[in-house]
Amino acid sequence: MSLDNKKIVLTGAASGIGAETAKTIKAQGATVIGIDRNEPKGNVDEYIKADLSDPASIATVVDAIPNGIDALCNIAGLPPTHDRVPVLKVNFLGLRHFTELMIGKLNDNASIVNVASLAGLGWPEAGEQIKAFLAFKDFNGVEAFCDETGIENEGGRSYFFTKEALIVWTMMNRWTWRDRGIRMNCISPGPVETPILPDFLETLGERAEEDAKIMDRPGRPEDIAPVVAFMCSDGSNWIRGANIPCDGGMNQHVLCEMHGHT
Ligand code: NAI
Repeated sequence: MSLDNKKIVLTGAASGIGAETAKTIKAQGATVIGIDRNEPKGNVDEYIKADLSDPASIATVVDAIPNGIDALCNIAGLPPTHDRVPVLKVNFLGLRHFTELMIGKLNDNASIVNVASLAGLGWPEAGEQIKAFLAFKDFNGVEAFCDETGIENEGGRSYFFTKEALIVWTMMNRWTWRDRGIRMNCISPGPVETPILPDFLETLGERAEEDAKIMDRPGRPEDIAPVVAFMCSDGSNWIRGANIPCDGGMNQHVLCEMHGHT
């Protein structure tokens, strides 16, 4: 599936999954505008520096992006070893704010692709916390929000929570821009060999060891990038509000175990 003549904005372009995706979509013909706090080493046609935890920086970046964007890939993220405040800001509040401001820059029939995580699998059990978070927009009040809703740093809960919220927000927006043909979906990778994999292993401890015994291998950025590319392409036109696992089968493994279909 070609991405010829498509202009694509991609966050997290400097490292890991974002860098590999930039390379892949460029090779498929897209023009790539890479957004990151660090400068990417190649793979983008244009780089715009941004701090996606800061609404002022997000507004400046959106101003610098031209109209006529065909896809927006929200890939930037912080691992669970970071404090809960920047994790909530970058992984959800900033992503949502950036996306909402970008809608006016998108072409009709554009695709929005969010990178969530296998870590967001528990969203059905976190209904009230997620509802509160979706209603919350105050970048300055994140610490107080975490205290009130019980989002701790402990065990990486803040990271899991942001990915749960991202999956729910994506599903809820299945038809928000349907009149313009704009669709939004998310992809949920399992553990992927990028610079932040050790952060996940450190946070998850024994659980990561158990997962490693079940999995044949960890993922690689090359396992995720083509899926993001497909979701940017016209071939994925009728996929809307979906959460697509890309994890070597882990999501299905957990679901089968949970519901007694071993
Ligand atoms: P990475 O650390 O290699 O890349 C993340 C990129 O986001 C970096 O280039 C970083 O500079 C950028 N970034 C972070 N904070 C930023 C900010 N405030 N403003 C602008 N840019 C910022 O990590 P990786 O593994 O490539 O992760 C990409 C996405 O995939 C993240 O959303 C992560 O949660 C998700 N993911 C990763 C998995 C893994 O095992 N590596 C598993 C599942 C999901």
